[in-house]
Amino acid sequence: MHAVDLIQKKRDGGRLSRTELEFLVKGYVGGEIPDYQMAAWLMAVFFRGMDAEEIADLTLIMAHSGDTLDLSGIQGIKVDKHSTGGVADTTTLVVAPLVASLGVPVAKMSGRGLGHTGGTVDKLESIPGFQVELSPQQFITQVNTIGLSLVGQTGQLAPADKLLYALRDVTATVESIPLIASSIMSKKIAAGADGFVLDVKAGKGAFMKTEEEAVELAKTMVQIGRLAKRETVALVTDMNQPLGRAVGNALEVKEAILTLRGQGPARLTELCLELAAEMLLLANAVQSRSEARRLLEESLQSGKALHKFKELIEAQGGQADVADDLSLLPQAAHTTEAAAPAAGYVQAIDPLIIGISAMELGAGREHKDSVIDLAVGIELKAEIGDYVEAGMPLATIYANDPHKLREAAGKALQAFQIGDGKPALKPTIYRKITAEQL
Ligand code: URA
Ligand code: CA
Repeated sequence: MHAVDLIQKKRDGGRLSRTELEFLVKGYVGGEIPDYQMAAWLMAVFFRGMDAEEIADLTLIMAHSGDTLDLSGIQGIKVDKHSTGGVADTTTLVVAPLVASLGVPVAKMSGRGLGHTGGTVDKLESIPGFQVELSPQQFITQVNTIGLSLVGQTGQLAPADKLLYALRDVTATVESIPLIASSIMSKKIAAGADGFVLDVKAGKGAFMKTEEEAVELAKTMVQIGRLAKRETVALVTDMNQPLGRAVGNALEVKEAILTLRGQGPARLTELCLELAAEMLLLANAVQSRSEARRLLEESLQSGKALHKFKELIEAQGGQADVADDLSLLPQAAHTTEAAAPAAGYVQAIDPLIIGISAMELGAGREHKDSVIDLAVGIELKAEIGDYVEAGMPLATIYANDPHKLREAAGKALQAFQIGDGKPALKPTIYRKITAEQL
C-alpha cells in the first residue's frame, strides 16, 4: 500500500477501507508517513468528505491508537457527557453529581480550558485541595465507592487525534465535520464509557456558528456512536449568549454550587436537568424522561445532589465546606461594575466577547501553557430579554490586577446590545438527535 494512492483515491472522491485508513493513521503515528502526505489527505477529506462507515472506522482507529480506559471494573452502564465548548457552561459540575446522586455511576475525564472556553479540570482546581490527578485504579475505586469521580486525562488517550489535530490546525483542515466528529468521538470512546450524551453548541460563542452545522455535527457523532455500538444522544443547544451567568473558574464553581442548591440561573439549570435526564435514560435507570425529570428535580430540592458533590470533593482531597461557605473559594482582590449606558431591553450578549474578556483577565488560556488565575472573571447581571435602566450593572468584573479592571469592563459592555422592544427569546435547547432519527 502506498500513501500517494490513498490520497489520490480520496482526492477523486473515493472511499477508503478500514485497512487503508489504518495504514494511513498508524503510518502517520509511527512516523513512516510524513506530514505533507497526511496534510494532503486531510485536505482531500475536507473537500470530498467521508461516508458514515469511513468516519466510524477512522474514529475507532484513532480511539485505539494509544491507551484506552477499561471501566469494566465499575458495575452498571457508564454514560459520559461531552460539550463541544461554550461560555459560562458549568454543566459538568452540576450534571455529574446530580446523576451520581441517583445511583448511576459517573466516571468522567475532563479537559482544561483553551481560548474563550473554560475547562472542568481548571474549575475543579479552584476548590482548595482538590486533586484532579488520580491513577486509573484510584479513579475506578472511587467510582465504586461513592459513584463519582472527575479527573483530568490519565494516560495517552487517542494520540493519533492529538497529532492529526495539530496538523489540521496549521493546514486549514479543522473545519471539516467528519474530522471534528471523529476527533471528539475517538477521545470519548478511548475514555471507556458505554454511552454518550453530547451537548453540541450552536451560535456566536460556539465552534458551530449555525444550528444547521451543529445538527450535522450532532448527527455525525450519533451515527459514529451507533456504528461503534455506544448508544449516543445529542442535544443541540444555544450558544448565542453565555449559558449561565458566571465566567471564570472559582466563579463557575460558585454558580455550580448555587445550581446544585436549586438556586441556579434558569437556562443553566434547565440544560443540566435535560442532559442529566438523557444520561439516566441511556443508563436504563428510569423508564421515561418524565420520571427522570421528577427524580432529578427532587435531588436538587432535597440537597441530595449537593451532598454528592461534597462527597466528591472530600474523596479527591478538597475542602468540602466550600459547598456551604462560598467565601472559601479563591476571591479576586478587585471588582468593578460594567454599567448600562442607556435604558432598554438587552437584545444580545455576545458570548465570544465575554469569553475573551474573561480570558484576558486571566481566567483562561491564550496558549496551551498560559498560567491562569482561578479567582478572576466576569459575572453577568442581566440576560437577553431583561429590561435595564441606564447605569444599572450589566456585569461585575473580578480581577487581581487593578489595571485590567477598566479594560475588561469596557470590553464586556461591547458584548451587550441594548435597544427598544423586548426581543424574541431563543430556546436553550434547539433539538435532540437520536440514532432512531438518522
Ligand atoms: N474539538 C475536538 O476535540 N476536535 C476537533 O476537531 C474540533 C474540536
Ligand atoms: Ca435505554
